[in-house]
Amino acid sequence: MRLENKRAVVTAGASGMGRAGCLRFAKEGAKVAVVDIDEKGAKDVADAIMLAGGEAHVIAADLSKPEDCSRAMNEASDVLGGIDVLWSHAGVPGTDQVEDIPLEQYELAMNLNVRSVYLCVGEAVKHMRCGNGGSIILTASISGLVGSQLSPLYSAGKFGVVGLAKSFALRYGPEKIRVNVVCPGLTNTPMLRKFMGRNVDDAAAAQTEKVFMAGIPLGRLGQPEDVANAALWLASDESSYVTGVSIPIDGGYIAK
Ligand SMILES: NC(=O)c1ccc[n+]([C@@H]2O[C@H](COP(=O)([O-])OP(=O)(O)OC[C@H]3O[C@@H](n4cnc5c(N)ncnc54)[C@H](O)[C@@H]3O)[C@@H](O)[C@H]2O)c1
Repeated sequence: MRLENKRAVVTAGASGMGRAGCLRFAKEGAKVAVVDIDEKGAKDVADAIMLAGGEAHVIAADLSKPEDCSRAMNEASDVLGGIDVLWSHAGVPGTDQVEDIPLEQYELAMNLNVRSVYLCVGEAVKHMRCGNGGSIILTASISGLVGSQLSPLYSAGKFGVVGLAKSFALRYGPEKIRVNVVCPGLTNTPMLRKFMGRNVDDAAAAQTEKVFMAGIPLGRLGQPEDVANAALWLASDESSYVTGVSIPIDGGYIAK
């Protein structure tokens, strides 16, 4: 098994790609801490893992709150007996507003998309340091690699995540802690609907999705498992010489 004896924490693990990651990591032998604001959803994921014979723990946390970031990482380390893998996946689309944006909207997006990543990594490395290093995977987006007309604020946060990964890779490499990024394109999760549907009706959202779809060379939306599989490779020792990279998982969307 590819993650045998690894202790893995996944934030936003109750749904979509995070959920797929928890299930995949557990199937490959990891003990998993499922961190999410949605305690019930996280429990469903943990139950599914345990039903299949794995080990999983639920940690309810609102990662937009700094105190929850440190508590979640410390609790995860306590229940798992340490941390070898962190997939920091939590994020929100945020508002598409630029002009006259209420400051709280700006803060809401940046607090989860950037600050929570910074704080969770800052806590997790303390626990990884006690072992044999570790692997940290951050979730950005293709909007962290190219600009987004639809969502400049989201793009700013995700570029921030890509920058953090490069800097963390430099800083923690000597301690055998690797830091890499998955950059999903359009991926079929509840968040995609929120992103496409913001401030518009269903028909307009469907039209936006159609325009995006036309630009995907592989001709389909991503599935949560596509991203979970990439996260699995980054979590495993198969990628042991890889750090500081950001991988688009987007059906070729930004290849042009
Ligand atoms: N779906 C896409 O098309 C897409 C594309 C690029 C990047 N992403 C990134 O993927 C991540 C979202 O994952 P998904 O698409 O699997 O979404 P999803 O909607 O399936 O799941 C999001 C999860 O985040 C949890 N969450 C929300 N706010 C939280 C908070 N404050 N604290 C803790 N947990 C919280 C929710 O409860 C939910 O379980 C984000 O980082 C997002 O930027 C998504």
